[in-house]
Amino acid sequence: MGSLLQPMMGYAIFLAFFLSFTCFTSTGAYDALDPNGNITIKWDIISWTPDGYVAVVTLFNFQQYRHIQAPGWSLGWTWAKKEVIWSMVGGQATEQGDCSKYKTTIPHSCKKTPTIVDLMPGTPYNQQIANCCKGGVLSSWIQDPANAAGSFQLSVGAAGTSNKTVRAPKNFTLNAPGPGYSCGKARIVKPSRFLSADKRRATQALMTWNVTCTYSQFLANKAPTCCVSLSSFYNDTIVPCPACSCGCQRNMTEPGSCVDPESPYLASVVSSSGKNSNTPLVRCTNHMCPIRVHWHVKLNYKEYWRVKVTITNFNYRMNYSAWNLVVQHPNFDNVTEIFSFNYKPLTPYGAINDTAMLWGLNFYNDLLMHAGPTGNVQSEILFQKDKATFSFAKGWAFPRRIYFNGDNCVMPPPDAYPWLPNAASHQLTSLGKLILTVLSTLGFLYAYA
Ligand SMILES: *[C@@H]1O[C@H](CO)[C@@H](O)[C@H](O)[C@H]1NC(C)=O
Ligand SMILES: *[C@@H]1O[C@H](CO)[C@@H](O)[C@H](O)[C@H]1NC(C)=O
Ligand SMILES: *[C@@H]1O[C@H](CO)[C@@H](O)[C@H](O)[C@H]1NC(C)=O
Ligand SMILES: *[C@@H]1O[C@H](CO)[C@@H](O)[C@H](O)[C@H]1NC(C)=O
Ligand SMILES: *[C@@H]1O[C@H](CO)[C@@H](O)[C@H](O)[C@H]1NC(C)=O
Ligand SMILES: *[C@@H]1O[C@H](CO)[C@@H](O)[C@H](O)[C@H]1NC(C)=O
Ligand SMILES: *[C@@H]1O[C@H](CO)[C@@H](O)[C@H](O)[C@H]1NC(C)=O
Ligand SMILES: *[C@@H]1O[C@H](CO)[C@@H](O)[C@H](O)[C@H]1NC(C)=O
Ligand SMILES: *[C@@H]1O[C@H](CO)[C@@H](O)[C@H](O)[C@H]1NC(C)=O
Repeated sequence: MGSLLQPMMGYAIFLAFFLSFTCFTSTGAYDALDPNGNITIKWDIISWTPDGYVAVVTLFNFQQYRHIQAPGWSLGWTWAKKEVIWSMVGGQATEQGDCSKYKTTIPHSCKKTPTIVDLMPGTPYNQQIANCCKGGVLSSWIQDPANAAGSFQLSVGAAGTSNKTVRAPKNFTLNAPGPGYSCGKARIVKPSRFLSADKRRATQALMTWNVTCTYSQFLANKAPTCCVSLSSFYNDTIVPCPACSCGCQRNMTEPGSCVDPESPYLASVVSSSGKNSNTPLVRCTNHMCPIRVHWHVKLNYKEYWRVKVTITNFNYRMNYSAWNLVVQHPNFDNVTEIFSFNYKPLTPYGAINDTAMLWGLNFYNDLLMHAGPTGNVQSEILFQKDKATFSFAKGWAFPRRIYFNGDNCVMPPPDAYPWLPNAASHQLTSLGKLILTVLSTLGFLYAYA
């Protein structure tokens, strides 16, 4: 019984984790794989001016794997009083608004609720500050912490001119580029310290506010953008992505819903609709997803087993730069080698080491090209078998969960997974199932005690 209990305990703990995960994500505001993930906005007042102050505002993307892609972030807020923005460096307000009150010098923006965007790379040096001008793109914290922050500087007028009279803006909104983030209130925190380049002198902000913004897939309210298909060496069946994972193919006679790669007009369709480039233009498939992740159980050795992962881009309108994948599988606690992708374990709960973040190697496969012959990247993963838990039965060899660029991918239903040819002999008896149910309850308590 002991030898039977052990693997089931492992399974039960996984199940508990899976259940807890499902519970949390259904509320939408919490990501169990990145529980502390947030974007923090730091507002540092650097100097007072005759009618206000100069501030440097920095966005830090503290999220492990969610990044902000082109066309980048936009940050909005509501001024607490009648503030205006006299000038900006390293960013710009999208609208000037009504500045008719001002006669001699015209402010950069007089909007009560300004929206700020980053400047593009290649901005003249006299309009740049450190960390600016990346077109609003912020890397994820794991992939590239050096590029996970973005800054702009603004000179604020008609504001308070001391730490007693100045008021923090209210109602921060962060779009990245769509909805999904909700931001808390600005809090007065310990003033930031800045070290000089030679580290021999430290200066500090006159006053600092922090605002924390968190992501929720529920708020983002978007259709899935990715799905998973499965296959294995032990069964010829290729389990495709579930039909309509990301949308259903509309009537073929209706133009623009998807593109047939055989179409002689392909090039003209792609280029003519290129202007409206935020909505994906996908190849016609049963799943209609811009991204498909295929997990193939490739080889079985005595001590090891090997998986091939292929990510395919079906979107004609998008090259995914700095893409990333988060994969949950119990054998990630014993991964031996990952070929041609970067790898880092994600262990938000310390003891549970079943989640990996994978991303491309710089200048090799960090750019996932638009749909077509080069629109895919692949890697192989070598796992060391743990005799106590390893099994090809019951779909154990397949991933539990996959995220592409932070979005949950649609998985095939478990009962559709490729079977072992002799699966019947591996089926649990009803007694086994009963024990499993009890154990999973225990495992849940155990994992969260
Ligand atoms: C934001 O993320 C940072 C880094 O993970 C963390 O130290 C901080 O506590 C988080 N803030 C909040 C309010 O969760
Ligand atoms: C404002 O500045 C004074 C000293 O100039 C300091 O004692 C006080 O703590 C500051 N208040 C805040 C809210 O930073
Ligand atoms: C906050 O901003 C949102 C979006 O800009 C707006 O709908 C909402 O009314 C604002 N709330 C307040 C209190 O200003
Ligand atoms: C404010 O934000 C900065 C940068 O994100 C961070 O280093 C600092 O710890 C934060 N302060 C508080 C009190 O959260
Ligand atoms: C597709 O279009 C054809 C011809 O316009 C129509 O007869 C058919 O009902 C449509 N099908 C759907 C599912 O809308
Ligand atoms: C993707 O990148 C290639 C090479 O840089 C470029 O030719 C192509 O136009 C890009 N496609 C899109 C949709 O941006
Ligand atoms: C998780 O597993 C990986 C691969 O076996 C290992 O390198 C890493 O140190 C483990 N991390 C923890 C926190 O156990
Ligand atoms: C990996 O598997 C081997 C063989 O089962 C085992 O001896 C080793 O402790 C495992 N390592 C980890 C980190 O679980
Ligand atoms: C392969 O798996 C499928 C389920 O996806 C199953 O219907 C089929 O019987 C399996 N083939 C063999 C040879 O066991």
